[in-house]
Amino acid sequence: MFSLLCGLLFCALGSGQLASGQPDDGKRYICRAIPLSGDASCPVTLLPELNAGSQEEELRNTVMQLRETILQQKETISKQLGTINELTTKLSLCASATDDRKYEKGGSWGKEKQNTMGDVPRDPNDTIDSLGKTMQGLKDRLENLEQMRANVSGASFPSELRDLLQRRLGELEKQLLKKVSNLEEEKSMLSNATAAYRLKTESTLNALVERISELEKGGGDFKSPEQFKLSLPQRTNYLYGRITKSLPEMYAFTLCMWIKSSATPGIGTPFSYGVPGQANEIVLIEWGNNPIELLINDKVAQLPLEVRDGRWHHICISWTTRDGQWEAFQNGEKLGTGDNLAAWHPIKPGGVIILGQEQDVVGGRFDAGQAFVGELSQVNIWDRVLKPVEIQSMANCSSYIPGNVVSWLASNVEVFGRGAFKRPLEMCQERLPNA
Ligand SMILES: *[C@@H]1O[C@H](CO)[C@@H](O)[C@H](O)[C@H]1NC(C)=O
Ligand SMILES: *[C@@H]1O[C@H](CO)[C@@H](O)[C@H](O)[C@H]1NC(C)=O
Ligand SMILES: *[C@@H]1O[C@H](CO)[C@@H](O)[C@H](O)[C@H]1NC(C)=O
Ligand SMILES: *[C@@H]1O[C@H](CO)[C@@H](O)[C@H](O)[C@H]1NC(C)=O
Repeated sequence: MFSLLCGLLFCALGSGQLASGQPDDGKRYICRAIPLSGDASCPVTLLPELNAGSQEEELRNTVMQLRETILQQKETISKQLGTINELTTKLSLCASATDDRKYEKGGSWGKEKQNTMGDVPRDPNDTIDSLGKTMQGLKDRLENLEQMRANVSGASFPSELRDLLQRRLGELEKQLLKKVSNLEEEKSMLSNATAAYRLKTESTLNALVERISELEKGGGDFKSPEQFKLSLPQRTNYLYGRITKSLPEMYAFTLCMWIKSSATPGIGTPFSYGVPGQANEIVLIEWGNNPIELLINDKVAQLPLEVRDGRWHHICISWTTRDGQWEAFQNGEKLGTGDNLAAWHPIKPGGVIILGQEQDVVGGRFDAGQAFVGELSQVNIWDRVLKPVEIQSMANCSSYIPGNVVSWLASNVEVFGRGAFKRPLEMCQERLPNA
């Protein structure tokens, strides 16, 4: 490019000289090809033919003109140098931003990109690399241009040529500017695409993490709302579940649940219902080496249930205020019955149901020694005595009947304590004793 311009310069100088001083006969076109390796400073030798005394003044004038031209040219070029410097700064900013992106990309999501999403239009790595190269190329070209202008300023030439050169350089500059702005736009698009992509990846990951912790902590969506269990893995006074519903006044009830525990020396307290003035309104507890006990209004019946084998068991206890009659079922089988348990007492309403802890006051003052350790599920309560066939069909997985006063739903069970979780429940068939 430079030598082309030098060539232009020389031709123009020759013809310019011809036009101004020397009519036809002198005909000195000086069109020299400048070798690429030649002196790039484009030396302009003033024409040796101008030696006659009559031409001296002409020459002096020309020299004066040229000096002036050079001064103007210098001024113009120094202005343009400012612009070029600005451009160069811009470009190097772009280039360093490109480098930064390269490092950024090496970050934690780098590997996932190819595998998880697959809808990234192109490999950002490559694109950023080639963008960086393009920018570097442009930068070099600008530097050349700058150098060339500096070199040109050292030469002398008449105004038409100066204009030509300036036009030429102006065009070049315009082209470069356009290219730079295109590149900047492309970079911005790329960066937006990458940002959007990262955002998407992160939000997908977040959703996954959220879902996992929901499943662990509770409130998650299970296969169906009753297909979850409450897991209380340690004997503490702070791991428990709370049923967000209370009980109405009741003259009979059936309490059923799936229960799994291997805790010794007793499974503790899977269920307690406390009301103001009576913390032991309904309690199911196995403590020490005693059998499982049912407390109603703090009266006690010992139940012939045995669940402490680390396997799932379906148990149901029904009670009616009439004669305080009760029945106890395990795995659909009626294992015991009795009466005079809190006879003629109505179950008081408005209390608190706690799963896994025994309440000494309503909703609190738990004792780790009485805590339940294991898993509970489908704790349902009806305000009537269920028929044995209903209990059997639930215990053999042929039906599921939600409780009419308390029904086992994830949204009805709050989990408290670090380590207590709602988890997906095994299939009913897998919970059967012979499974
Ligand atoms: C992307 O860049 C990183 C480091 O800059 C390199 O290790 C990796 O191989 C590149 N990946 C591709 C697909 O070019
Ligand atoms: C400008 O001139 C300098 C020496 O004066 C030379 O080193 C450089 O290569 C020239 N630049 C161009 C673009 O020809
Ligand atoms: C990239 O995003 C920025 C901010 O959201 C926006 O101003 C710009 O126009 C976007 N660029 C392209 C090329 O879409
Ligand atoms: C489950 O129990 C119900 C009620 O006793 C009975 O009708 C049904 O046949 C039983 N189903 C199985 C698979 O044992």
